[in-house]
Amino acid sequence: MSASGLFISFEGIDGSGKSTQVALLAEHLRAQGRDVIVTREPGGSDGAEEIRALVLQGDPDRWSAETELLLFTAARRDHLERLIRPALSAGKVVICDRFADSTRMYQGLSRGNLRNTVDTLHDLMIGVEPDVTVLIDMDPVEGLSRAKARQGIEERFEDFGADLQTAMRAGFLALATEFSARFRVIDGARDVDSVAKDIRTAIETELAKRA
Ligand code: ADP
Ligand code: TYD
Repeated sequence: MSASGLFISFEGIDGSGKSTQVALLAEHLRAQGRDVIVTREPGGSDGAEEIRALVLQGDPDRWSAETELLLFTAARRDHLERLIRPALSAGKVVICDRFADSTRMYQGLSRGNLRNTVDTLHDLMIGVEPDVTVLIDMDPVEGLSRAKARQGIEERFEDFGADLQTAMRAGFLALATEFSARFRVIDGARDVDSVAKDIRTAIETELAKRA
């Protein structure tokens, strides 16, 4: 989508190592002198961070599937308007921990098949995809045990359990096939440095293409 910057998203199941790897990639690119914005979804702008609390905290049945989809999309629209688009226009690298592929998976799959509704709303209100999407793929049981070890209050989705995470893993791999031009699938079931090295290589290849 970006006119001059590079828009990178990270995707994968809960606990797959996205936040860890986002930070390492940002550090690496900054050391090369690049202007990097690190952000996340849901959130990333003041309004979207307020919506984050509404969607991630509380009872798993707090929202209907449709209401939840509208909240995630509202948060994304604000994030796009206020942070992502201006940063890309200024030529920055934007690294976003989750983006619309998470909605395709979590709201599209977790409570019935809402994928068409997700895609329609995306086309209407968001309309852009990242330039590159790093999918950190790993065994959901291991991912969930990593995520649970964090013990936070943002557990509405983690509480869905291992079956949902298994469906999510398969769903993300299917998305990587559907959008093969922008997806890079990385094996996340290795030590942090090995995963980071593969991600650096993938992104450097992408940056070299655009230089
Ligand atoms: P995510 O953002 O995908 O939920 P995190 O980066 O927060 O994942 O990682 C979840 C937990 O697993 C954290 O406690 C983190 O320190 C740990 N972790 C991350 N990457 C690895 C790895 N490659 N091997 C072992 N533990 C990891
Ligand atoms: P995140 O903070 O990335 O959680 P984790 O570090 O455990 O991966 O995301 C919080 C949760 O929000 C995660 O369980 C996935 C969910 N989510 C959606 O359901 N839809 C969305 O569009 C996004 C961006 C996230």
